[in-house]
Amino acid sequence: MAIVSAEKFVQAARDNGYAVGGFNTNNLEWTQAILRAAEAKQAPVLIQTSMGAGKYMGGYKVCKNMIENLVESMGITVPVAIHLDHGHYEDVLECIEVGYTSVMFDGSHLPIEENLKLAKDVVEKAHAKGISVEAEVGTIGGEEDGIIGKGELAPIEDAKAMVETGVDFLAAGIGNIHGPYPANWEGLALDHLEKLAEAIPGFPIVLHGGSGIPDEQIKEAIRLGVAKVNVNTECQIAFANATREFVRDYDANEAEYDAKKLFDPRKFLAPGFKAVQGAVEERIDVFGSANKA
Ligand code: 13P
Repeated sequence: MAIVSAEKFVQAARDNGYAVGGFNTNNLEWTQAILRAAEAKQAPVLIQTSMGAGKYMGGYKVCKNMIENLVESMGITVPVAIHLDHGHYEDVLECIEVGYTSVMFDGSHLPIEENLKLAKDVVEKAHAKGISVEAEVGTIGGEEDGIIGKGELAPIEDAKAMVETGVDFLAAGIGNIHGPYPANWEGLALDHLEKLAEAIPGFPIVLHGGSGIPDEQIKEAIRLGVAKVNVNTECQIAFANATREFVRDYDANEAEYDAKKLFDPRKFLAPGFKAVQGAVEERIDVFGSANKA
């Protein structure tokens, strides 16, 4: 069984200068695509569900069982962590309960004292069950209702205090944004990342908003201390683009495609899911985690 908690393989990535991917899943086929890519590349991987995706798929228990059962039925041999992405405290407790092997408690919207207190509590509960913990300081920017938030650079003292709570890896705001990057984005604050990494030597840092950052910046961030990179939007765009192309082809060749029964969802959605697998494999190569299983 390849299901594990993530702290060992994330720390190994930090120690050896590469990063593992934290790939968000949205459904069964998405999960298969990530697993196929990880196995093909022989890369350790975190398959993560946001709170919204967890609800969409029918709850955390469904997600945990789906990932676990696919790992078994697909004969996956690489280490796979089942991870909650950006969890509120109650959701973290639920995922600990149902058997996720890794959780992110996101208290970045709370006053730092409260964020630290709850993170410490999560660490106690999760570590008692061998579950790894990610927390966040600073904030990750992103678009909400058309307004682009820049995000708040992670204060160095907050990062040091969060590491002391016992978390296993730390998400830190360094100018990164969830979703597509706007044309006027200033790039990652690599100078800030460098200061942060110096203050928490050897500690694995997580880069959220991994889609659309130029590869050279990602590689530099990994060199400075990033050991996990989160990717969601990039896979969604790969899926959407491949599906749109297929639909255009379908429209142009309707009689032939109908005769081939390409309206069957297993065939209709296949190009999209193949594209997700391709995107994940490509990211694993950029992060340097191929053949690190
Ligand atoms: P993107 O959607 O920008 O890739 O961000 C994913 C992420 O950070 C999930 O936590």
